[in-house]
Amino acid sequence: MVQFRSLRLSLRFVIPLVIALGILAYGVVPLVDNLTLRWFVRDIDIRSQLIGRTLHEPLAQLLPEGNSSRINALLLRATQDERLLALGYCDAGGTLRYRTPAFPKSLDCSSIVFKNKDKDEGTLLRLPQGAVHVSVYPMVAEEGAGGSLILVHDMSFVERRSADTRKYVIIFFVVLGIVVSLITVFVAHLSWRGWMEGVRAMLRGEGILRPFSPQKAQNSELQPLVGDLRALLRTLDAERRFADDATITWSPESLRTLLHKQLVGERILVVSNREPYLHIKKDDHIEVNRPASGLVTAVEPVMRACSGTWIAHGSGSADRETVDRHDRVRVPPQKPEYNLRRIWLTKEEEQGYYYGFANEGLWPLCHIAHVRPVFRTSDWEQYVKINQRFADAVVAEADNDDPVVLVQDYHFALLPGMIRRALPKATIITFWHIPWPNPESFGICPWREELLKGMLGSTILGFHTPYHCKNFLETVDRYLETRIEHESSTISRRGQLTMVESYPISIQWPPPWEGALPPVATTRAEILQGLGLPPEHLLGVGVDRMDYTKGILERFAAVERMLELHPELAGRFTFVQIAAPTRSALEEYRAFEDRVHGMSERINDRFSRDGRPAIILKAQHHEPEEVNRYYRAADVCMVTSLHDGMNLVAKEYVAARDDERGALVLSQFTGAAHELHEALIVNPYHVEQTAEALYRALTMPDYEQQERMRSMRALVRDFNVYRWAGRMLLDAARVRQRQKLAARIGGES
Ligand code: G6P
Repeated sequence: MVQFRSLRLSLRFVIPLVIALGILAYGVVPLVDNLTLRWFVRDIDIRSQLIGRTLHEPLAQLLPEGNSSRINALLLRATQDERLLALGYCDAGGTLRYRTPAFPKSLDCSSIVFKNKDKDEGTLLRLPQGAVHVSVYPMVAEEGAGGSLILVHDMSFVERRSADTRKYVIIFFVVLGIVVSLITVFVAHLSWRGWMEGVRAMLRGEGILRPFSPQKAQNSELQPLVGDLRALLRTLDAERRFADDATITWSPESLRTLLHKQLVGERILVVSNREPYLHIKKDDHIEVNRPASGLVTAVEPVMRACSGTWIAHGSGSADRETVDRHDRVRVPPQKPEYNLRRIWLTKEEEQGYYYGFANEGLWPLCHIAHVRPVFRTSDWEQYVKINQRFADAVVAEADNDDPVVLVQDYHFALLPGMIRRALPKATIITFWHIPWPNPESFGICPWREELLKGMLGSTILGFHTPYHCKNFLETVDRYLETRIEHESSTISRRGQLTMVESYPISIQWPPPWEGALPPVATTRAEILQGLGLPPEHLLGVGVDRMDYTKGILERFAAVERMLELHPELAGRFTFVQIAAPTRSALEEYRAFEDRVHGMSERINDRFSRDGRPAIILKAQHHEPEEVNRYYRAADVCMVTSLHDGMNLVAKEYVAARDDERGALVLSQFTGAAHELHEALIVNPYHVEQTAEALYRALTMPDYEQQERMRSMRALVRDFNVYRWAGRMLLDAARVRQRQKLAARIGGES
């Protein structure tokens, strides 16, 4: 393939070259003809002068005697020279007195002498017998009769030589053309191969990186252009992203259209640990639960829009009873739109992979929440084993050799590498839902290199914020031998390129119950009544998993401090904390839950008034619809995470408030704080500041609530979860297009 292309390409150069040479030859031949003719004429002029001078003396002696036979003999002898055709003598009166036999009859003495008199050069004439050169050598008057010797040279040899010269010139140009063409084809072929290698590498993304190996650095013919092409690709990408953002209104429909257009209807494979629907045995029936998980909240609407298969751990007590023989179940249960493929784990495997390595190791490692990570070899071994089990499931569920796989979160750091080995052409998008720490913090993990290598099996690696991307690039730079291009945020390792990009996650918009809910006032009244609180009571809400990273204790401390500073609010304000039980098998979590319970009781002992508690702790699972009712009822929502990738509770609260009321107190250590600037941003470690923000939220005038809420709602509307998924899929589609193009322009050679 490459050979033919380079041949075709060089022909495009060779053909014009041959034409140009032809034109050149066409112009050069008459020029050469002319030149040689002039040389020969000059030559004959000199010869004529020479012959004239030689004959001058004997002729001068013979002419006065008038001895015609001796004169004719003298002239005849002189014409023995093959080129001298004839000689004649014209007297001063213009009469041809003597002539050799071949002297052309048509030559007329008077005109010849007249024309050539006083000239050193002869005249070229075309006579019936052919071309001749005629020159005149004057005889001095005292010595003779003052006549002229006429020398006629045959010029046919000049024509013969000229024909020869023309032939050689043409042969020369033909040979030159062939040689130049061959050299061109050869050089073009070599350059084409080099170029194609370079362009292919660039399309794969490698060329975007600076040369690393000395061997690659030698590929110098491409080097001057690498920078330009790199810049061009980046500009094109940036322009396209900009255009996408300006033109696409992200919704389930636009996401579906994008999939069909850009990814030609690829079925998406999602992998996460937590499943979107759990089947739970309750007495004599089976219930469906939706887990409290930011990941599930975000990915589920995307899956409903895209269809495909979601592979996850089947952790519900009735999960096995509800799957088919391929361990699949169609979900959502009320309106099935995609497949949920369940993976089974033994208690021991779950203990090592999920509780141990993922949640006692990686979770505290990535969150700066002052809980020490614990790393055990036995947990690591389970983590490797279960990652491999999920990788096998991906391969089994893929219906082609280049599927689009969305790998979710820290449970699967090794999965991208494993999938890549089995399906080298797969497009693997890995999204890390939690923060990424700095290199020093990450460095304490004994298997840091293995984890990083596994993640670099991804085509695209997404984090919530540019800061997490930067931390990741620095971590890779510290611990692995790779090439990193900071400008384009790409990492190349052993020919595999990973683009590291920030994609701030979000929630679905419009919210699922849009337009179908009772007015906020009704919900508020119902909730207050349900809690046994009077209608004018002020209500705060916090919604979290019972996790030490969420800053629940710090939040309670802020509530307590606020009530200390504003005792008039005791009995007029209650904070409802919804805390879904999570990872309770871990001692750290159980201890945390105890502390939360203890603290809320202590605060209630201090600030409850007339049966109206300061804090209501609801430490059980709540379905999303119920959570949404609390959002709508609350005057303030508090998100005080000590460290959080994004925190979707903040965005859910904003989405729930279609009445444009309510205030949000938001920790500066969440990804959401980088987007929701109109929230009251706090440092949750600073008790007074957080307490002050809570008070400000509770006393915020209506118009201010409205302005802040309206602005935050516009942001969540535009930067919704379809945009999050859409931007990743668009980037993936671009990478796929480039890879396909690279394969097409270079074949597999
Ligand atoms: C965080 C993690 C998710 C996880 C969720 C719930 O948001 O990033 O991966 O699913 O917490 O935790 P759990 O351990 O119950 O799945």
